[in-house]
Amino acid sequence: MFGKSKISASMMCSNLLDLKETIDIFENEKIDYLHIDMMDGEFVPNFGLGVDYIRGLRELTSIPLDIHLMIKNPEYKIRWIGIKKDDIVSIHYESTYQVQRALDWLKPLGCKCFLAVNPATPICVLEEVLDYIDGINLLMVNPGFAGQKIVKSTLKKAEKLKNMLIEYNKENLLFQVDGNITPENGKKLKKIGAEIFVAGTSSIFKGTVEEYANNIDVFRSALI
Ligand code: DX5
Ligand code: ZN
Repeated sequence: MFGKSKISASMMCSNLLDLKETIDIFENEKIDYLHIDMMDGEFVPNFGLGVDYIRGLRELTSIPLDIHLMIKNPEYKIRWIGIKKDDIVSIHYESTYQVQRALDWLKPLGCKCFLAVNPATPICVLEEVLDYIDGINLLMVNPGFAGQKIVKSTLKKAEKLKNMLIEYNKENLLFQVDGNITPENGKKLKKIGAEIFVAGTSSIFKGTVEEYANNIDVFRSALI
């Protein structure tokens, strides 16, 4: 919590036709992570970036991936993905009955293990797994689509998460926020304690690829 802000660019928002140019800009701008929304059409009503996309991206860049698994029963599929030690991988609390086992099976892959929670999932579900995670991905929208508006109650929920981490002496856990992170929402969430910000159509991916570098500067200055 309250660490140096890191930007995780949401690749579901990028234009495949500009991918190489986009990655070059992200390397120049020192983007911290590439956010990969892997979606199975079951856990969320959308299909998303898959194993082939990740393999291709690894050929293009060494920017670490922030893999957001919006898939059912991720514990049986994590070894298909090609997860690396510098990656973040978020498993959704709501996506498996065996949450702690899924985290146990993810840990040996060496990545940072995050638990993602949807807007309606209460923060107390984290209580029993705080010792098994490196961070939390707090969904500020109902996941699966870019371009949505923040679910109002999630701002208060972010405060509850901060208070919980302080109460359990777990301020060292990384606090990520995902969904409609505009510069304004980013500023508010930074004050609350968030430190990894998923940047999609609300921040970086606005206008043409020529505008991305400026969009990053505007977003970054809101997160100081
Ligand atoms: C939501 C996705 C995010 C994000 C995209 O399911 O996980 O990648 O919403 O960015 P925005 O919300 O700014 O379009
Ligand atoms: Zn995401």
